[in-house]
Amino acid sequence: MKFVFLSFILPSSSFSFQVIPQSSRSFIDMALSSTLERVAPSAGVVPEWEEQQGLSEEQFMQSDVSKPDLSDALLECPLTLWDFENIDLTAARASAQKLPPSCPLEIKATPEDNAMGEDYFIKNKEMIRSKLVENGSVWLRNFSLPKSVSGHRTMTEALNLLPCLDPLHSSGLRKFASERDCLYEEVNKPSLRQHYIGLHSESTTKRTAAYASFVCFKKATEGGGRFLIADGAKILGDMDPELLEKIYKRKVRISVSNLDVPPSTPQILKDGFKSLVTSAVAPKFDMDLEMIYEADGKPGRLMAIEEMESPINRHPVTGQPVWFCNAHNHLRYLRDRRPCGVPEVGMTDVFFGDLGHLSPEECDEIKRVSEKHITAVPMSPGDVLLVDNYRTLHGRDVFEGERYHAVSWFSWEDNEEWRGNELRMREKDGLNGLVNKYMDWLPKDF
Ligand SMILES: *[C@@H]1O[C@H](CO)[C@@H](O)[C@H](O)[C@H]1NC(C)=O
Ligand SMILES: *[C@@H]1O[C@H](CO)[C@@H](O)[C@H](O)[C@H]1NC(C)=O
Ligand SMILES: [Fe+2]
Repeated sequence: MKFVFLSFILPSSSFSFQVIPQSSRSFIDMALSSTLERVAPSAGVVPEWEEQQGLSEEQFMQSDVSKPDLSDALLECPLTLWDFENIDLTAARASAQKLPPSCPLEIKATPEDNAMGEDYFIKNKEMIRSKLVENGSVWLRNFSLPKSVSGHRTMTEALNLLPCLDPLHSSGLRKFASERDCLYEEVNKPSLRQHYIGLHSESTTKRTAAYASFVCFKKATEGGGRFLIADGAKILGDMDPELLEKIYKRKVRISVSNLDVPPSTPQILKDGFKSLVTSAVAPKFDMDLEMIYEADGKPGRLMAIEEMESPINRHPVTGQPVWFCNAHNHLRYLRDRRPCGVPEVGMTDVFFGDLGHLSPEECDEIKRVSEKHITAVPMSPGDVLLVDNYRTLHGRDVFEGERYHAVSWFSWEDNEEWRGNELRMREKDGLNGLVNKYMDWLPKDF
């Protein structure tokens, strides 16, 4: 699918062979994935749904036009704050094991709270913001204010959260629900309903949002779609110590796209294709990507692979070491064994830093420990999940019917050095408009 993106930017006349779309996956691959049993992953904690009344789509999409249009001066997503040298894993595990279970701190609106509207959030700002960092996530339940785009913005402003762009904004794969409110759509599109999104932070090696506010305007009409969160500190605390040590030492590299060319393509054309992708496509993603042939052993496959990064990072504010790694979402071994609706070109994988492969047992351990700490949050209209993106990973379960969930990302409002003052890069944006228009069906799952 990013293949379409590719031929869209590069006139097809400029290279003489076609990238093979997903339908041409090798026979062996297809045989393998069709015989594997696909099982939707489980969760450690599964709270009950509470039926809340939402607004109609016309009502919940309303923006408050008396407020300024934020899209005029949006901040870029801040650079990732890496701090991973010399972590004592034994001590980190011990401290994580003492933490309470991986659950959001729940705050349930009383009728009195709701009667206060915006004032509730102004009055409780300090409490909510400190719980967000202390507990990693806060589940605001059954509030009236955030049932609409305008109310959600009023709430985040009352909490003094500073909006910024998604770390992948420049790729054109992210779509706004309301651009003037800096609110993005979550993965609601019907084609990805049956695609399970594993645990990840909204983060690339290069950029990471500080906080997120996930909001439900309309829950899936025919069921499913629980929002998944897990405490990265608890995952670290519970992982097999041998694997933890090994992956911390060897680090990881994440592959974000597969471009398959016929294995018989002459080397000189393969090389030309690789430099074309490197110079023309990779920069649009604003990630540090390296194009590598056949890293997963498949003949003719060019993978776009991020720089080496640490799977463990210290939290910028608390210093707590956390599992800060998108492996549960991106590992191909896990994707092939659960509902996964992404075509081959959008398929991802995770390698050790030296491009060595994780064994099936190692992938299963990452699955076990991640899913043990997932709380599968049932979100209804009036529910918001505030997430500390350096501590808590998120994902979402498959769903049926229609839904409308949205998310805003935030920077460091009180730390100029961490925030940086990079404004939205407009030249990338011209492209985004076009790409969005033609590529509305691209996967948006990482
Ligand atoms: C929130 O964090 C505090 C301090 O670590 C802890 O005592 C409390 O149990 C946590 N609450 C939840 C719901 O995890
Ligand atoms: C949610 O709030 C509404 C209005 O304040 C109230 O009528 C309803 O009972 C609440 N639901 C739950 C499950 O508490
Ligand atoms: Fe995400």
